[in-house]
Amino acid sequence: MILHLSSWPEVDEYLTNHSAILIPIGSTEQHGPTGLIGTDALCPEVIARRVSATTGLMVGPTFNVGIAPHHMEFAGTMSLRPSTMKAVIYDWVSSLAHHGFDRIYFLNGHGGNVSTIRESFEELHQDPVLSQPNDHRRPVVCKLANWWGFAPVLDFCRSTYGGAHGAHATPSEVAITYAAYPEHQKHVPLDPQIAPMSRYGDAQDYREKFPDGRMGSDPSLATVEDGAHLIELSAQHVSEDFKTFAESPCD
Ligand code: NI
Repeated sequence: MILHLSSWPEVDEYLTNHSAILIPIGSTEQHGPTGLIGTDALCPEVIARRVSATTGLMVGPTFNVGIAPHHMEFAGTMSLRPSTMKAVIYDWVSSLAHHGFDRIYFLNGHGGNVSTIRESFEELHQDPVLSQPNDHRRPVVCKLANWWGFAPVLDFCRSTYGGAHGAHATPSEVAITYAAYPEHQKHVPLDPQIAPMSRYGDAQDYREKFPDGRMGSDPSLATVEDGAHLIELSAQHVSEDFKTFAESPCD
C-alpha cells in the first residue's frame, strides 16, 4: 500500500489493523557522469515499492533531499543542514503518529544521512509526547536500515563488482536506477575506468580529488539485469526486517 496512492478512508482502514509505515529516505546529489542525481532517493523508493507489494504494508512519501554538502560543487546537488533535516524528520514522524502510526521504518539510500537520522531518532525516542502511549497508538519507535546493509546484498556487490564497486556512484546503485528507469541509462566514456579513492575535505577538495564525481567506482558495470536482481534481493530482506519491526512490542 502506497500512502500517496491511497485515500484517507483507506488509510483509516489500514490503521485499524496496522501501525507501521516505511519511509524511503535518500539524497539529491551528483552520481558521476553516468549516474542519476536522484540515485540515493530512487534506490530505496524502488525497493520500498517491492516491499509494499509483497508485504501489503504501507510505504510513505520519499524523503528525497539529505545531507550532501561535499557534492555541492557539482550541478544539481541539493543539501539540507543537519538541523533542518532533524526538524523535518520530527515533523514527518509526529504527523504520522497523530494518526496512529507508531512503527516508522526509514529505508535509507545515502550513507551521509546516517548520523543525522540517528540523532533524530534520539530526540524522537526521548520526546515527552511521542514516547508515551495514547488512545490511538503505542509509544512511537523508529528504525533505520540501509538498502545495501544486508549480508546477501553486500556479498552480491562484492562478488559481482569486486574492486570496481568503490564508494560513490557505485555500479550497484546505478544498476538499480537503470533497472527502474531504463530509458534514463547514460553510457559515456569514463576516464579513468575505475575512479580514484582517497580521503577528502570540503566540497572543493572533493571536486579536485574526484573530478567527475565518482569515488573508487566503475559504474559502467551497471546493468539492468543486475539492478533488477538487487531490487529483489534487497526487497526480500527489507520485507522480513520491516515485518518483524511492524509486529515488535514496545521495549
Ligand atoms: Ni549514492
